[in-house]
Amino acid sequence: MKPNLRLFLVLFASAALSRATFGAGPHVPVAKPFDLIAWNGGRFVYGVDYYPEAWDEGQWEKDAAMMEQAGINFVRLGEFAWAKMQPEEGRFDFAWLDRALKVLNAHGIRAVLGTPTAAPPAWLYARYPDIAAMDEHGVRYRFGSRRNYCLHNPDFLAATRRIVGAIAEHYKDHPGVLGWQIDNELGGPYCYDSYCQTAFQKWCRSKYPTLAALNRAWGTIFWGHTYTAWSQVPLPWNTLYEAHSPSLALDYNRFFSDSTADYLKFQAGILRRIAPSKAITHNEMGLFDAIDYSVLNASLDFVAWDNYPMFEPDYASYYGPALGHDLMRRSIENQSFMVMEQQGGLPGWQIFWGRQASPALYRVWAYQAIAHGADGVCFFRWRTSRFGTEQYWQGILDQDSYPNARYQVVAQMGKELPKLTELLDGSKVVSEVALLVSPDSRWAFHIQPLIEGAGASGGPKANFDYNRQLHEYYDARRRQGINVDVVFPQSEFSSYKVIIAPSLFVVDAPLVSKLRQFVEQGGALVLTYRSGVKDEHNVVTDHTLPGPLASLAGVAIHEFDPQTNQEQEIDAGAAGRFPARVWFDILEPSTAEVLATYAKGYYAGKAAVTRNRVGKGWVYYVGTESSSDNFYDHGAEAVAKQAGIAIGPKLPAGVEMATRQKEGERIVFLLNYTESAQTVTLEGSYRNALTGETESGQISIPPLDVKVLSTSK
Ligand code: GAL
Repeated sequence: MKPNLRLFLVLFASAALSRATFGAGPHVPVAKPFDLIAWNGGRFVYGVDYYPEAWDEGQWEKDAAMMEQAGINFVRLGEFAWAKMQPEEGRFDFAWLDRALKVLNAHGIRAVLGTPTAAPPAWLYARYPDIAAMDEHGVRYRFGSRRNYCLHNPDFLAATRRIVGAIAEHYKDHPGVLGWQIDNELGGPYCYDSYCQTAFQKWCRSKYPTLAALNRAWGTIFWGHTYTAWSQVPLPWNTLYEAHSPSLALDYNRFFSDSTADYLKFQAGILRRIAPSKAITHNEMGLFDAIDYSVLNASLDFVAWDNYPMFEPDYASYYGPALGHDLMRRSIENQSFMVMEQQGGLPGWQIFWGRQASPALYRVWAYQAIAHGADGVCFFRWRTSRFGTEQYWQGILDQDSYPNARYQVVAQMGKELPKLTELLDGSKVVSEVALLVSPDSRWAFHIQPLIEGAGASGGPKANFDYNRQLHEYYDARRRQGINVDVVFPQSEFSSYKVIIAPSLFVVDAPLVSKLRQFVEQGGALVLTYRSGVKDEHNVVTDHTLPGPLASLAGVAIHEFDPQTNQEQEIDAGAAGRFPARVWFDILEPSTAEVLATYAKGYYAGKAAVTRNRVGKGWVYYVGTESSSDNFYDHGAEAVAKQAGIAIGPKLPAGVEMATRQKEGERIVFLLNYTESAQTVTLEGSYRNALTGETESGQISIPPLDVKVLSTSK
């Protein structure tokens, strides 16, 4: 007998025994703070993204049985099924989805339904061609692919209202539907049509009290760009050969981000009004930067994100997803989050991208999400598509449904999670260090990339890269087993001992005074080069750099040296010498002490790294970047010691440690991404949450495996 046939027979027998029934949930608004495990009836949310519309109905029962056998209790459905849900204007068809839900629910699997607006149907484009966005050259996109609509087109908004309202009405009392995912990976494209231009002008009018105030804020005196009527305010579309004003461009970025948040809020409003007992989420993209997630997420009950570790550049192969998790976790304060698309196979579109990961690594990546606070993991996708652009984007199963090695790994984890759920429930990641991400600064660096090739990671030149700096400081903490939160300018800072704010290029007065207060009360602030350069309008300060941050840093910068090709060296005295690259702020201390100097060239001996006492705290200023991990490890250790932060055990390369905690209990995750066994020495005694055994001292983690250890604290 073929192995898959044998398996199906076993599955059918076991499924019949474990049919779950769900009572209709009370019709009350979703509880806050939101708890994913409680939402899923006390089960850890463990799922797959499933597309029943693309498979024969005869396949559904087999799929659901195989899912149940693997411990799957959750699916995301329907986020690209608009054409099937609404085959023509005025006619909806949910019968097929009702049948699919019935099959899945009978196997104990509940669903989040996507609102399918990421993929408007062909008939909608045919009837309203202007729903497509327009590119910066004035060319309108057309039907095909997905996600190419205009956020301000009235016909698209009306069509959105109809489809979202119809789904909400149809499923508002369905006990097997837990909630909604709005759209899919919101984030563009930027649109430059007349709807967006009018909306942008309106946005500007609500931001600036008068046109004169806008002209002043943007400095439109430059090249005589002064506007004499609101209707003249353009979008930053492609001009002949020069860029638009950086101030106009930054406000356009904010407008686009706000427009996206408004679109999500528009959908959330419809869903909440009709179905207040269902939770609302959206699948986001970690470090993706066209949207300020801290604004967008105000309309959600919980955050979800799509995690594809194989897209990470080499320098961040396992800390890349970690940073993504930490960013998503904090993007709604203190809420549970989940991964809505966890990589389940080799990615690819027209070609396969990269080489296959060991099947065991998919499980370690999924545990990494949990280690960083996720209360749910959903793999993309159940089975690889037979059709369309993503034929080479592997799901758990391939097209033949054979229970392959990835399926076995998913099933292994599905058996483990019930043993961990009680322990994980209510536990949180607690961090003393925060990394401050400034959406304004990131946009401003995109608009003016500082030095050649900014934004591109790697390559022969040491280009400027905001995200690389985030990683340099973040990864050093992870290597020392120190948890890190990612915060935004409007986040609460007071619970942290250290805030690292790389290249805080655009700052406004409220942020400066928040940072001052944080430091005066005893916090340590780490600033790096190109900080305090621009005001909130993307206009360069007329104060000596680092502008409004100068008195905090206790330095003045009268000269700087951008270098893409040549390496400098930092002399940190007893700590040694480190290579330096990209940018060199030549620091003149006013009140700061010098921690390191430049070693080469005409500014040899001048300060490169300083530390300034402010109130009860300290401000560090790092005027450059290094290609050496040792530089960041040394800095992280010094800052942690001074701030009273415990440094974790020595971690071998390829091993990560992260912790969650709750009342009286600390959970330690040791994740081994290497193909050999690794050892970490822990103080104290731990209970292995998967085996129940006691472990202490030298703890061995098998190749491509994880240890989940708990201890009372
Ligand atoms: C994600 C997207 C999915 C799927 C996947 C693989 O970004 O949300 O719908 O396209 O990538 O390409």
